[in-house]
Amino acid sequence: MKQVFLETFGCQMNVADSDRMESLLFQSGYLRTDQKEEADLIVVNTCSVREKAEQKVYSLFGQLLPLKEKNPDLILGLAGCLAQQEGDRLARRIPDLDFILGPDTIENISDAVAQAARQTKPLVWTRFDSHKEYSIPVLDVEDQPANLSAFVNIIKGCDKFCSFCIVPYTRGREKSREAEEIYAEVRSLVKRGAKEIFLLGQNVNAYGKHGLNKPIAFHELLYGVAEIPGVERLRFTTSYPGDFTEGMIRAYKDLDILMNHLHLPVQSGNDRILELMRRGHTAAEYRDMIARLRDAVPDIAVSSDIIVGFPTETEAEFEDTLKLMEEVDFDNNYMFSYSPRPGAPAAEWEDTVPEADKKLRLQKTMDLQNRLTLKNAQAFVGRKVEILVAERMERNGSDFKGRSPQYWTTHITGGNGELNIGDTAVVEIKETKGRVLIGRRTASGNG
Ligand code: SAH
Ligand code: F3S
Repeated sequence: MKQVFLETFGCQMNVADSDRMESLLFQSGYLRTDQKEEADLIVVNTCSVREKAEQKVYSLFGQLLPLKEKNPDLILGLAGCLAQQEGDRLARRIPDLDFILGPDTIENISDAVAQAARQTKPLVWTRFDSHKEYSIPVLDVEDQPANLSAFVNIIKGCDKFCSFCIVPYTRGREKSREAEEIYAEVRSLVKRGAKEIFLLGQNVNAYGKHGLNKPIAFHELLYGVAEIPGVERLRFTTSYPGDFTEGMIRAYKDLDILMNHLHLPVQSGNDRILELMRRGHTAAEYRDMIARLRDAVPDIAVSSDIIVGFPTETEAEFEDTLKLMEEVDFDNNYMFSYSPRPGAPAAEWEDTVPEADKKLRLQKTMDLQNRLTLKNAQAFVGRKVEILVAERMERNGSDFKGRSPQYWTTHITGGNGELNIGDTAVVEIKETKGRVLIGRRTASGNG
């Protein structure tokens, strides 16, 4: 078989898209390798959501082009959001590229590879799929083992048009996938070894709002997936506060296998900034959502994304973000310094906050989150938690590593010889190291 090297930048949807390309390419005779020097085909799946992500892609290309000089038969492809957005420009800038696919056209990867081998100019294939339905046919890949934690796309695109964000332009309109197809994929993944299912989308909780033949709401989909035998854990990401519902709260309460963690990005704690960001809710409404959720599900972990230094953000407005972080007492946060994304509306506005201030604000959010995370980690000491054993550890004196229901990375001692990857171990947390919980497998064993 020929070999393909797939490099992935960006969000979990990109990871899922790369896995999909791997399966499609497997069917046309390519096996995935992690050695780019040995590859016959290299595909870089790109991200353009922040400037940093973009720079990483360009620097990787610096390393890839010499490989092409050494082996002129090497096929070099670019996929993902940067490819979607900058396709034609990249084709001119890097003539050694063979093909360019957008997130909406990766289903064509095998055709693109075949065609690219026959032509000299880069093939640019980035048109949005204009079909009404969003379908990812379940492939017949019975022999291909699935990941223990497997990603399943349920909705694509985003209709929210937050003023800073490029996603609605690179991934197009929201379209949901028929529930039956999702269930079929989950059944196939479970059969091939998956135990934890991550439902994915830029906005999973907008699921079902657009054009399904059999309309169902997001929380109903959760109940549906939870019924599939063999699914031991269910998670989803990312949800949007504007589409948060009571149905979701009910699902957390009702479904044991729906893990108690919600990633609900808030971006800012100040109402004027939230409005400029076009997030569609106030800070108070966000606080209220979390309060209602915690009333119903007291031990739920909540994480979020934060942007500092949005155009015109004052020091006092930034402090509202710190206040909100402290009050909500997030378990984790992904914090970003605002960077204009050409094509997104806010990129037309003056980027008023000096870089030095952005840096300082970012540091303050990181310091605060660090304190909150360490405190919330400490609260687990002495508790017993169920860990899905995901990896064997080779150092630090622990034997295994996995995640708790609240998504804390946990190192396990005392499992050697008795635990296997994929088991659920009951672990008593003894201490924490940074944001990692460390515990001992209890005598009660698995389950
Ligand atoms: N659908 C996802 C958003 C994907 S982008 C969601 O709602 O979470 C992931 C995160 O990147 C965003 O939540 C935001 O915090 C950050 N981000 C997006 N555009 C950005 C920009 N122009 N500058 C800085 N951070 C940005
Ligand atoms: Fe981006 Fe806002 Fe959608 S952050 S992905 S436009 S919800």
